[in-house]
Amino acid sequence: MRVTICSNEAAVAKEAYKLVRDRVVNQGAKVLGLPTGSSPIKLYGEMVAGYQRKEIDFSDVHTFNLDEYLGLPVEHEQSYRNFMNTNLFNHVNLKADNIHFLDGMTDDLDSECMAYEGKMEDLGGIKLQILGIGRDGHIGFNEPGTPLYSRTGYVTLAAETIEDNKRFFKSADEVPRWALSMGVGTILDAREILMIATGSNKADAIAGMIEGPITSMNTASALQLHNEVNIIIDEAAASKLTRKEYYKKTGGSANVADMYAYLMAARKKAGLD
Ligand code: F6R
Repeated sequence: MRVTICSNEAAVAKEAYKLVRDRVVNQGAKVLGLPTGSSPIKLYGEMVAGYQRKEIDFSDVHTFNLDEYLGLPVEHEQSYRNFMNTNLFNHVNLKADNIHFLDGMTDDLDSECMAYEGKMEDLGGIKLQILGIGRDGHIGFNEPGTPLYSRTGYVTLAAETIEDNKRFFKSADEVPRWALSMGVGTILDAREILMIATGSNKADAIAGMIEGPITSMNTASALQLHNEVNIIIDEAAASKLTRKEYYKKTGGSANVADMYAYLMAARKKAGLD
């Protein structure tokens, strides 16, 4: 896991955007997995600004959103589809047919979930999956206790998540109790993962994800099994990491440029070059 600790939320968004732009523009990542929620709002702002500056083009990009509430029509103010329209889709040149979303109003949940997985497969899989994290360590709507091999399916929201998400609704009673979500196993199938998190209320979940045991009680900890994970967080979200200074110095993995410089100097000294 590569961990980048930024001074604040704006810096997290800029750093995350740099990575997204690099993967889309330079590495041909044309299938993106996207989250909703507060965490990616500034990143989406950066993506829109980058599109307006002509730095990034979405004309041949496909997107798959992680999840959708059950029982909310697309037009509902709090549907995740509506959130994405407002924060990203309406402002960039994504083709309507390339936007893939779970239908929270479907009358056949199993077929809907299987078809979503099928579409991902047909497009060669997700190349870059962007994630936020819940206070309870959830990714997508995979709440504590979800099997770490789970596939796209329907899930029951945890009390903590209903409490957290009620800020968007008139009251907690209006927050849907169920959702459709990519599974943890589905998320782990992505070629690369980018997790962003800010704020001290995420500090326990982040510490559990990076330094805790792999456990379904913090489904994000399953990312420890993935080989290409970038975690970009602010100081507050990093505050409970015991190895924070190490991550700051090294990014949590070898700095290849520094390593080569050291190696070349050692080779020279040994008369090998
Ligand atoms: C949303 C999603 C969730 C959120 C998480 C954090 O599509 O998949 O896992 O990323 O609940 O939400 P915020 O960013 O609002 O704190």
